Amino acid sequence: MSHTPQPVISATGLFTPAERIANEELVASFNAYVALHNRENAAAIAAGEIAELTESSVEFIEKASGIGSRFVVDKAGILDPTHMAPRLPERSNDELSVLAEIGVAAAKDALARAGRDAADVDAVLCAASNMQRAYPAMAVEIQDALGIDGFGFDMNVACSSATFGIQTAADYIRAGHAKSVLVVNPEICSGHLNWRDRDSHFIFGDVATAILVEDKAIAPAGHWNILGTKLKTVFSNNIRNNFGFLNRAHGGIDQGGPKSDKLFVQEGRKVFKEVVPMVANMIVEQMQVLGLTGSDMRRLWLHQANANMNRLIAQRVLGHEASDDESPTVLDTYGNTSSAGSIIAFHLNHADMVAGDTGLICSFGAGYSAGTVFVRKT
Ligand code: COA
Repeated sequence: MSHTPQPVISATGLFTPAERIANEELVASFNAYVALHNRENAAAIAAGEIAELTESSVEFIEKASGIGSRFVVDKAGILDPTHMAPRLPERSNDELSVLAEIGVAAAKDALARAGRDAADVDAVLCAASNMQRAYPAMAVEIQDALGIDGFGFDMNVACSSATFGIQTAADYIRAGHAKSVLVVNPEICSGHLNWRDRDSHFIFGDVATAILVEDKAIAPAGHWNILGTKLKTVFSNNIRNNFGFLNRAHGGIDQGGPKSDKLFVQEGRKVFKEVVPMVANMIVEQMQVLGLTGSDMRRLWLHQANANMNRLIAQRVLGHEASDDESPTVLDTYGNTSSAGSIIAFHLNHADMVAGDTGLICSFGAGYSAGTVFVRKT
């Protein structure tokens, strides 16, 4: 009898860095930088040549975003007001790179939860906002570290990398090109965040997640059926990072100032206004395609960028104000971790769900990009 492969989620994994920065410490360090900058540039500021910098505030951060703290790979470098970036010593080519290291940790967690031996995995997709280098692919390094015989490649769809990775993996399963695919999302967002930019210095944290997508025929008990996936991209300059290999040809890399375009920079207000309706409409349309209504949705694991965005999207999808149980947030502890956010929300908030419960993993961000993955617990 011929076998029709059916992609499911077998397990997820999570790696959380040991160090954490609370809003109070972050703002204290930012304000120390502001005082230093304004003191050192007092004459130029008085002459109107450069602008005086303004302090940040914990109250603003919590009200505007819902972010309470973030985990990071190097706290000391970030909080040093004269440095304001993580310090990570460069490793030799013989050592596992730091991005691969955290990806491998999350992947091992997912494999252990699925009871899966790495030798049985066919492919690794490293799906994240930032790759440590151009090549060899991070996915191939992770594949090698795990001892996987197969293939791997990197993909970057910014904050939507994980959901785009899940659909890609699901398509490989459907096509019969693989039976078991690891999607790994190592996000060292502290490396691309401009810690000197008052408008965004509080947004991101570091983490790694992994998702094991497999053919139902080999999946462990308690896996998640994938009811349907949908991806969408719409070009926008409102979230942008111009760091790239042609920076040198264009005349250098300036990462010093508060608004460097070679780091993450956004028009936050515009993003908020444009992305909320785009994502809400996309989810509602996909629910109609799948024959689902708001009352069928047990839980939403939304992208973790902004608590107020999630409140509006969840309200539209469910038809009522969402409780924390219906739309859990990890922003209070993890901050925005780009592509990993909705996967952390899923990973930490699904143990109480029972067979037949339906939920949605949904991401959105730069591109613009958005992805939905509707799942049902078995
Ligand atoms: N501390 C204190 N005040 C601050 C501040 C800070 N760190 N940063 C900005 N402000 C001030 C601004 O100066 C402005 O003051 P004004 O009204 O006197 O001009 C006011 O707060 C509002 O600024 P604005 O930038 O419009 O804030 P916002 O309400 O849009 O919130 C974000 C900013 C980033 C939290 C919000 O736009 C957002 O989350 N957008 C979603 C996009 C996103 O997070 N994307 C990430 C990638 S997916």
